[in-house]
Amino acid sequence: MSTSIIIYINQYCFSSPKKSKHSLLEVMEDQHIEVNYQCRNGFCGACRMQLLKGKVIYFCEPLAYLAEKSILPCCCRVEEDVILSFCLD
Ligand code: FES
Repeated sequence: MSTSIIIYINQYCFSSPKKSKHSLLEVMEDQHIEVNYQCRNGFCGACRMQLLKGKVIYFCEPLAYLAEKSILPCCCRVEEDVILSFCLD
């Protein structure tokens, strides 16, 4: 059984430990991926991304508007391999 999760974001691909305590935003920052953010707490929506495949789990309730398949990486963790996009189209 794998102990890591694969994360694809546009041209980036990297792994992260399963059961990480870090938010997806923090995981992306660790990879030096430039991500928009402001509140880091699910209020502003600045970090919004599109989840194309996979699953995330929220550790705090996102209060910003979320269209279908949109996620807020500041307040969620990756649960399984994911494909994400910065583009919200
Ligand atoms: S940084 Fe504000 S909702 Fe993520």
